[in-house]
Amino acid sequence: MEPEAVNLPKTLTLEKVQDVQHWTETLFSFRTTRPSAFRFRSGEFIMLGLLKNGKPLLRAYSVASPHWDDGLNFYSIKVQDGPLTSLLQHIKPTDEILIGKKPTGTLVIDNLIPAKRLFLLSTGTGIAPFASLIRDPDTYDKFDRIILTHTCRNAKELRYGEHLLDTLDQDPLVGEFARDRIKYFASCTREDYVNSGRITTLMESKELFEKLSIEDLNSETDAIMICGSMGMIDDVRKIIENVGFVEGSNATPASYVIEKAFAE
Ligand code: A2P
Repeated sequence: MEPEAVNLPKTLTLEKVQDVQHWTETLFSFRTTRPSAFRFRSGEFIMLGLLKNGKPLLRAYSVASPHWDDGLNFYSIKVQDGPLTSLLQHIKPTDEILIGKKPTGTLVIDNLIPAKRLFLLSTGTGIAPFASLIRDPDTYDKFDRIILTHTCRNAKELRYGEHLLDTLDQDPLVGEFARDRIKYFASCTREDYVNSGRITTLMESKELFEKLSIEDLNSETDAIMICGSMGMIDDVRKIIENVGFVEGSNATPASYVIEKAFAE
């Protein structure tokens, strides 16, 4: 893709694609250079996109790498008739893409009050902000134990998350201790897999806690982040509010926070 000569708004910058990985026909991840002087908190999202007919075409994307990393990672779906991802899925190294310089979002540890355990509950591409948080040493400073769950329709859609966990011990900052402090639980809803079912069902049946050999949720000692579809968020929210969890925000930290996963 040739960069077009246009005047970009001050909030946008063109960054170079460094790496692209295709996980399935509908999922891919990529890494870009990082804008100079760009700061964000692990778990936040930015606007990202391409120029189409000289105009920025942007969508919100969670940064899937931690705040200390010198590149930016992203994880995306591919929608064949999606305005952005139908084009974005074809990017290759050295192409330029638009990156918004104003990070924002609620899935940051500052929005949670201190707790012993942090549950990161994700479906689909909702794992992206957690890919950032599990590589941030601050997450481990604030919480003793991290429990990351990822639910997808099929096993192949879990590959990105599995790879993330498999390579965590090679991370330069958290590699030495992260794997011992994280429990990872993956499940599928439309294919046989070692764990089956929606995260809501697995929480209500207690299978999640039994299989991981951990105690049930406790709003006094746990904090939760949720990222998935609106339906998933609403259903998880009902379950956890029933047992005393309270939604936090930038203004008022509390015991859980939510964000909708990217959808084209
Ligand atoms: P299911 O296959 O039973 O719909 P999607 O690809 O539609 O975003 O879904 C990703 C995963 O989230 C799927 O495993 C899906 O399960 C699950 N899911 C969808 N809706 C909900 C919900 N309301 N509560 C919990 N999990 C959900």
